[in-house]
Amino acid sequence: METIDELKLILSPEKIKERVEELGQQITSDYKGKDMVVIGILKGAFIFMADLVRHIDLPLKMDFVRLQSYGSSTESSGQITITKDVELSLKDKHVLIVEDIIDTGYTLKYLKEMLKLHDTASVSLCCLIDKKERRKVNIEAEYVGFEIERGFLVGYGLDYDEQYRQLPGIYHLSPRYEAKGFVPSDR
Ligand code: IMP
Ligand code: MG
Repeated sequence: METIDELKLILSPEKIKERVEELGQQITSDYKGKDMVVIGILKGAFIFMADLVRHIDLPLKMDFVRLQSYGSSTESSGQITITKDVELSLKDKHVLIVEDIIDTGYTLKYLKEMLKLHDTASVSLCCLIDKKERRKVNIEAEYVGFEIERGFLVGYGLDYDEQYRQLPGIYHLSPRYEAKGFVPSDR
């Protein structure tokens, strides 16, 4: 695809596919016999979630939430609001949150606390990419696809100013954009 920004491939579609299959198998064995609801965070997680659930060989329900966080151009502030709430009943359900990236951790910490108010049986996290080094609050995902130390990533659902979500691989966006700061559109 022709792009205006400089992109460097860091995770190929094959590598992602392999890891998503492994995660799906692990989740399948961990959630056997449990009443499961998988909740995706829009928009970033939509492609990951679509691939992941096709490797979870169990009965399950799906829902989506959309969150917004305010902060500087490069980091979320911890002030989060829900712009689309869950619609399914989560009472006594084993909830698995599916997210694209954990960065500071503010978004997921907020969502996890919020979902616990629904009298769930359990709430766990599955994220495709963990940027552990950037964490501001103490939160760990039970399932992690890849740990990536630094850089701004696009593709496979991840965007820069709403662009590049459709790329089948994950790319590092040219560092000159990081120097300028980015304005994340869906957090
Ligand atoms: P945080 O953990 O609250 O800081 O927010 C994580 C959210 O920020 C993710 O859900 C993404 O939407 C967004 N985000 C963080 N890093 C990146 C990136 O490298 N590319 C695209 N979006 C990112
Ligand atoms: Mg997101």
